[in-house]
Amino acid sequence: MTKETKALVKATAPLIKKHGEAITQTMYPILFERYPDAKILFKNASDNQHKKLAASIYAYAANIDKLEALSKAIETIAAAHVKTAIKPEHYPWVRDALLSAIKEVLGNEATPEVIGAWGEAYDFLANVLIEREKELYQNS
Ligand code: HEM
Repeated sequence: MTKETKALVKATAPLIKKHGEAITQTMYPILFERYPDAKILFKNASDNQHKKLAASIYAYAANIDKLEALSKAIETIAAAHVKTAIKPEHYPWVRDALLSAIKEVLGNEATPEVIGAWGEAYDFLANVLIEREKELYQNS
């Protein structure tokens, strides 16, 4: 991730804080419409899953320049993902739906640069999670 990407993502942290729940509430219908196979993965998800996702996206934006602050959250998320059989091939689905939801909710604030930065930041975090989940699957 470049310095510019980190700076762009961090600059959106206040917006993500304000609109995070609207973004994730917008994201799930997009996800399930475009990728109907995603529905079964969330069959036991708690009612406040969108709040958890919103909080994690905000924490990521706010701490993108000090990722060690996120290590506990990454462990929790990876454990939840392994429990629900999330696989690397599922990550592009959430990427697509999340970026569309950010665009929809932030409107003009979501410039092409901001969306590009969030795409790069998502890929970085997705890879961290995928690697940790791979270890957890191997040890289980
Ligand atoms: C960078 C990408 C992602 C982030 C930041 C993220 C974040 C989270 C968070 C914060 C939780 C809640 C953990 C807890 O219990 O406290 C969670 C759980 C979960 N995530 Fe993800 N996630 C990502 C990608 C995905 C993908 C790609 C899928 C599947 C398409 C997915 C499906 C789920 C499911 C099914 C749960 C469990 C929900 C429940 O049992 O209530 N996640 N994730």
